[in-house]
Amino acid sequence: MKTSSKDTIYRYAVRGGNSLKGEVEVGGAKNAALAIIAASILTDETVTIENMPDVRDTNVLLDAMAGIGVIIERPDRHTVRINGSMVRNVNIEYELIRRIRASYYLIGALLGKYNEAEVPLPGGCNIGSRPIDQHLKGFRAIGADVKIERGSIIAKAERLTGAHIYMDVVSVGATINILMASCMADGKTIIENAAKEPHVVDVANFLNSMGANIKGAGTDVIRIKGVSSLHGATYSVIPDQIEAGTFMFAAAVTGGDILVKNVIPKHLESITAKLIEVGCRVEEFDDCVRVSRTGKLRNTQIKTLPYPGFPTDMQPQAGVTLSLSEGVSTITESIFENRFRYVDEIMKMGADIKVEGNTAIITGTESLTGANITAPDLRAGAALVLAALAADGVSTIDDIHLIERGYEDFEIKLKGLGAVIEKVTDERSVKKFRMKNAKVS
Ligand code: EPZ
Repeated sequence: MKTSSKDTIYRYAVRGGNSLKGEVEVGGAKNAALAIIAASILTDETVTIENMPDVRDTNVLLDAMAGIGVIIERPDRHTVRINGSMVRNVNIEYELIRRIRASYYLIGALLGKYNEAEVPLPGGCNIGSRPIDQHLKGFRAIGADVKIERGSIIAKAERLTGAHIYMDVVSVGATINILMASCMADGKTIIENAAKEPHVVDVANFLNSMGANIKGAGTDVIRIKGVSSLHGATYSVIPDQIEAGTFMFAAAVTGGDILVKNVIPKHLESITAKLIEVGCRVEEFDDCVRVSRTGKLRNTQIKTLPYPGFPTDMQPQAGVTLSLSEGVSTITESIFENRFRYVDEIMKMGADIKVEGNTAIITGTESLTGANITAPDLRAGAALVLAALAADGVSTIDDIHLIERGYEDFEIKLKGLGAVIEKVTDERSVKKFRMKNAKVS
């Protein structure tokens, strides 16, 4: 990915008001790819991963793994070849590892392969406290002694033995980590109250393609029969449900008409249902969905839930859209405790949202006006771009590196749909953008 060079700080300049129309292609799922990259080191043979998204999070994890001896080749932008045979060092101090949350998948992979692992505690993400107690519960259940020392998680086991594990919380990360740690344990592991997200299923399918024996992924009971070893494989990552949903909501909020291609419509059902509720037309095809809106946006109620409920990663995009609907809407965020950070920013654009506890009360307004705003986190940042696209006038959005964590070529794809958006660096280029796009009202 041509990311901003180290010292250049980029921001988006957006002139809102265009209805986005046309076709957009969705890339591989970031949250499946991160786990699959880590799981690739469970074998000493080479693994080829296709439809790999070229986004900051996956690139940082790949760099971090190269830094601990994993051989990484990138024959093209969306294909990665990984060989983890050289990874002997289970004590991972590598600086980059600390920086990304998904590095906690290395614990499950290294423990599953070597019966021991030492990985720095993942950085807390700013959408909530992000505990890992369920991950540790799973590792301990299969026989690992786990302690936290010197800012790292240290897990060691004489041998790993299958266990019956009841998750106290539905956790994507913990479910995936236990899959990786138990796929070569002795005997059977059962995970009750497992996460059912599409990317959990994708990781299970990937591990099975390497010779694992995992059944029930996608339901709340997953059964793993330990195997003696895993072999290399070639695997293609599923399309990104959240990138797809973000473009679907882009059509809704700008009153556009977008054909979102390379998706699995089944994974988008809760998103489709809400878009229809707010007045959009959604047509489903084999591997694409078409979303259009001509009439006014209507209000609705949303509560985020584990899959197949409405995804928490789509909550900011829905909140921004509802700020332009008629009437009062509510959104209840039941997964994370700090996922309304976009509200302060969109209030600068004229939105009327009150947050009470884990519920946002949204009184729809006629329009939003452009403003200088800042991306607070990955999904809130993407949602604020949608708000800028729907607003009257010019907006600038800072800290777009947070958006680039999970969206490949975001501004290029939006431009392809008729958006007026540029990646700019300094005040001078913002001024130039404003001059060029001063909309004759
Ligand atoms: C994954 O995070 C995703 N990240 C998140 O996407 C996504 O929002 C989340 O799943 C829910 O779908 C990746 O896959 C890298 P969880 P994860 O464990 O695994 C609590 C994005 O925007 N919990 O399912 O960290 C936790 O506090 C990111 O792409 C525990 O209590 O989420 C939360 O309330 C943001 N103990 C709930 O469970 C634990 O040990 C769900 O968290 C683990 C989690």
